[in-house]
Amino acid sequence: MVNVLVIGAGAREAALGRAYLASPQVAQVYVAPGNPGMALIGLTPVAIDVMAFDALIAFAKAHVSLTFVGPEQPLAAGLVDAFEAAGLPVFGPTQALARLESSKQFAKAFMARHHLPTAKATVVADLAAGQAAIAKHALPVVIKADGLAAGKGVVVCETEAAAVAALTHALAGGDKPVLIEDYLAGQEASVLAMFNGRTRVLFPLAQDHKRRFAGDAGPNTGGMGAISPAPQFTAAQHEQATALVDATLAGMVEDGLSGCGVIYLGLMFTAAGPKLLEYNVRFGDPETQVLLPQVQNDFYALTQDLLAGSDQPLKLDGRTYCGVVAVHPAYPGDVSAALPVVTPSAAALDYWLPAGVSGTANALETAGGRVFTVIGAGQTLAAAQLQAYARLAPLLGQLAMRQDIGDKGRHVSGTA
Ligand code: AMP
Ligand code: GLY
Repeated sequence: MVNVLVIGAGAREAALGRAYLASPQVAQVYVAPGNPGMALIGLTPVAIDVMAFDALIAFAKAHVSLTFVGPEQPLAAGLVDAFEAAGLPVFGPTQALARLESSKQFAKAFMARHHLPTAKATVVADLAAGQAAIAKHALPVVIKADGLAAGKGVVVCETEAAAVAALTHALAGGDKPVLIEDYLAGQEASVLAMFNGRTRVLFPLAQDHKRRFAGDAGPNTGGMGAISPAPQFTAAQHEQATALVDATLAGMVEDGLSGCGVIYLGLMFTAAGPKLLEYNVRFGDPETQVLLPQVQNDFYALTQDLLAGSDQPLKLDGRTYCGVVAVHPAYPGDVSAALPVVTPSAAALDYWLPAGVSGTANALETAGGRVFTVIGAGQTLAAAQLQAYARLAPLLGQLAMRQDIGDKGRHVSGTA
């Protein structure tokens, strides 16, 4: 039996930890730093910050045979390079590869170099250049801060004044450039694959819900809920998504970006075909919560095989999953006022994935915007939605949620 270390603290890491714990080969899953809710679902939180590389390396050396990195910050800062230099098995991209996520400018150049479809964008470094670009731009226009922003660095602007305000705000955030980008209309999909430079394991399509409120209103968030598989996408769209994953992986090899990891393509299926919104080099949150429960493979063996250069066909359970995120009512604003979190019943622990919680296992309170994810499953999307919302109702307490996770999946159409 072996132990695994998952780095991160959210519901994504809870889902990853669960997947590793389900392997007959795995005795214990540590999560650094994890959260106090994780102890309730059989995981072992370890109080080490995701950026404390030396402490993580020392812990991994002493206790585990595999480390898996959840969030983007340590990847962008070179955690995988540091583990590899220490001779430790780790699944994740190097710092050089992580630039596909950590720099939108780098990602845009990669897409252009490899002829991958994306929205047209102008990169500006100051207000005057930005204002000039906005004045020439059709509305709505999208303003994107470069660098990591936890999904919240993008503003869709309906007026020129709003665009200038968003630009001013983004430029004030530091010395990073800002992208002024064409708005893309359509249905969004997340397509993820685990890869190793030779082969890949492709997951079913998922759909996140980025806006805070029902009907895709309000500000962008880290993600309010997800479904997978997403039944609104046609077989042709699945093929297009697969082709973009493979073209991306081929482009990485061509550019000498070797190694293993997770590639996540944020796609918009527009009337003119699929366009890349972004790359992430990690599992998505909340996509992971609805992807991993479908997988029937031994997830530890699957990861080890990829690290060793081979792959396994994915065995899926054939069900559709719906994950709904319970958030602090003030999210994505100031969530510093802690609220009580309902302790799940023993039965609920099977579908409750804790994130922004603190306190003790039986007296949990909020510590962040996204507090936990609840998942439901069924033979159809409608059944999965019903189950997720029925399960969430007794756990919601003073928290908030979107009421419409998955609704777009029930209107089968090509685009919007
Ligand atoms: P990003 O960080 O680039 O993935 O953007 C976060 C979210 O903003 C995406 O998941 C989309 O929902 C939205 N978004 C980003 N770029 C665009 C665009 N060009 N047109 C429309 N929506 C966008
Ligand atoms: N679900 C969006 C993200 O993980 O970036």
